[in-house]
Amino acid sequence: MNTEQKIEELRRRRALVQESDPHAAQKQRERGKGTARERITALLDPDSFVELDAFAIHRAHSFGMQRRHPLGDGVITGHGAIDGRAVCIFSQDFTVFGGSLGEVFAEKIVKVMDLALRMGVPCIGINDSGGARIQEGVVALGGYAEIFYRNVQSSGVIPQLSIIAGPCAGGAVYSPAMTDFILMVKGSSQMFITGPEVIKSVTGEIVDFEELGGAMTHNTRSGVAHLAADDEAECFDQLRTLLSFLPLNNLDDPPAVTPTDDPERMEPSLQTIIPDSPKKPYDMHTVITGIVDDGFFFEIQPFWAQNLLVGFGRLNGQVIGIVGNQPAHMAGTLDIDASIKGARFVRFCDAFNIPLLTFVDVPGFLPGTQQEYGGIIRHGAKLLYAYCEATVPKLTVITRKAYGGAYDVMASKHIRADFNFAWPTAEIAVMGVDAAVKIIFRKELADAPDPVARQAELVEDYQQRFANPYIAAERGYIDQVIEPQETRPALIRALQLARSKRQATPPRKHGNIPL
Ligand code: HXC
Repeated sequence: MNTEQKIEELRRRRALVQESDPHAAQKQRERGKGTARERITALLDPDSFVELDAFAIHRAHSFGMQRRHPLGDGVITGHGAIDGRAVCIFSQDFTVFGGSLGEVFAEKIVKVMDLALRMGVPCIGINDSGGARIQEGVVALGGYAEIFYRNVQSSGVIPQLSIIAGPCAGGAVYSPAMTDFILMVKGSSQMFITGPEVIKSVTGEIVDFEELGGAMTHNTRSGVAHLAADDEAECFDQLRTLLSFLPLNNLDDPPAVTPTDDPERMEPSLQTIIPDSPKKPYDMHTVITGIVDDGFFFEIQPFWAQNLLVGFGRLNGQVIGIVGNQPAHMAGTLDIDASIKGARFVRFCDAFNIPLLTFVDVPGFLPGTQQEYGGIIRHGAKLLYAYCEATVPKLTVITRKAYGGAYDVMASKHIRADFNFAWPTAEIAVMGVDAAVKIIFRKELADAPDPVARQAELVEDYQQRFANPYIAAERGYIDQVIEPQETRPALIRALQLARSKRQATPPRKHGNIPL
């Protein structure tokens, strides 16, 4: 072959890589799914994708595998850009052996994961896979384990984002489970360890794919997933938005933008948001959107553990991670799910230099045997541990209730929050007024000629003396009591100072967070 012919041969091979089986693509489309290549094109910046290992083929010989050698072996890997920022990516092709993972498929993913870690850029996985390739046996299991190991090595170093874009079974769910965020598509993506057939034969339960492991199952019930989209296009939008808040790696700062909202902006609507009755709820979303830049709060896990809100926003262009009790759901109590949700989010922000802003209105941990038997002690401890451990700037605003242990947990001064604000409506106490009076004046109330009138007096007195921010402010547990409308400028000033925060931690291998 002369040089010209060699170049022609390369072109021919390249064209083969791009060729797709129209029948298989049509099958994907019928299920509301794109092909592996279409997905990469839709997600990344135009013409930014560079493919690696396009000519790789499997080396298996059993079960008829020797008769079919699809180029790329069922996964497309490479790098590209989103909003001009570099990312590494792999996209599994369900039309090739059901997207199942064999030796070469695994090698390709491992190689691009190593590249992402070495270059310090996020790694995005588009998962659409039947799990370990049955024909390749233990070699496939080894391949998965190599991926799992890298997920852990990369954890806290580069952001790892998983899109679930089809039925993902067995090993195909454990790698996403160890990444930072899981995004699912309603109706076309599922995650499960064992499918409906196996479940039926083992436990007798009858359940379909969507109910077992669909987007809303994992977004509302299990808490496995973080976002749910109506279709793939929306899922890619969500990923791009999410990425716009994240640094490339743990040594990078999260991407600031030129502010488009006045840093001195007052928010008069917040002056009246807290109802006079402590029993009345209000929506913490309204507080958050009133304060952050342009009212944009990108909520994570919006459907699960709705008593605690987590998500990203910006203050004067700087990224912040926001955690807020939600009085409009279960009165904002902390339960097992909320504790786990909050802990994981706090740890993510801490790993990636994202300052934490916490809004507190919490009556305490949720009482009940279900919670106690379920291990609320252990799970609540996760949130406490995560806040104590976090060294990123921590800003706290108590809007109303901060009772008991939950006061301590929610980024109190004592666990090293940097700036603690309270609104005049804050009630910082061991418990709610009614409960406190009933306990400490039980005898007196029992003996009182008119217990109802006496209780009302005692409640009034307790309210005056304890259920306010000033006792905590006298001791410096609260740095500033501010009017609600002043919150945005106050936080922005604090954040400005906090940008140069340095906090060392004792040398150790790693802590032992209660799991
Ligand atoms: C090899 C597989 C495969 C697999 C699917 N295929 N899964 N090939 N290994 N694991 C192939 C099918 O043979 C079929 O090939 C094509 O992919 C499409 O599969 P269908 O079953 O026709 O598609 P669908 O009806 O949509 O069902 C998709 C599915 C189902 C739900 C994913 O295929 C399934 O249940 N697969 C097995 C899932 C599973 O149990 N995996 C666990 C492996 S163990 P043809 O040629 O007919 O088109 C594991 C352990 C890892 O992963 C350990 C980590 C901790």
